[in-house]
Amino acid sequence: MINLGILISGRGSNMAAILSAIKSGDIQNVRPCVVISNKPDAAGLKVAKEQFGIPAEIVPAEGLKGWDYDQKVVAALKNYGVLPESALVCLAGFMRIISPEFINTFRMRILNIHPALLPAFPGLHAQKQAVDYGVKVTGCTVHFVDEGMDTGPIILQSPVSVFEGDSEETLSARILEQEHILYPQAIRLIAEGRIEINGRVTRLKEI
Ligand code: GRF
Repeated sequence: MINLGILISGRGSNMAAILSAIKSGDIQNVRPCVVISNKPDAAGLKVAKEQFGIPAEIVPAEGLKGWDYDQKVVAALKNYGVLPESALVCLAGFMRIISPEFINTFRMRILNIHPALLPAFPGLHAQKQAVDYGVKVTGCTVHFVDEGMDTGPIILQSPVSVFEGDSEETLSARILEQEHILYPQAIRLIAEGRIEINGRVTRLKEI
């Protein structure tokens, strides 16, 4: 059984997609243990508690940076049974860069979703970067988190066309629909033990 912790900062729609897939049985062998937000007003906290009955905790930053903050998050995760040996930590719109110490504690057990086809458009405002650059195809990526900015081994990607007249908002909405499919799919593959990692390249194992 994998013990899952989800880190959010806002709306939490990816969190909800993941929790729904677990609730419906699409993802098995994953127990959602806790949702943690650095922002007290994150809308996703209420959704986690009220719609899914999952404990939701606020770990406020209060000016703390790097590991000084992250160790509080790690302590909260551990409190709810999200322990390095059996954990999966999903960043779902968590608007902080996590420290090397946090990454090391949960090495290759932290996932992120990014709204672009990495390595294109890493960092903030990926959808705006895509519109401004004029690409015809962008998308979303689920990847393991390493010390770089959106650089960890890629698990799954899904393409999304950019239409003439797309704004950051219209494009973001179409990418988000794909995110809600892709993130649960990646977690399901990990829970089934189907993702093999070799350096920075992952491979899907046949069953
Ligand atoms: C998503 O676009 C995700 O790709 C990015 O942050 C956004 C979070 O949205 N990392 P939500 O909170 O899951 O609705």
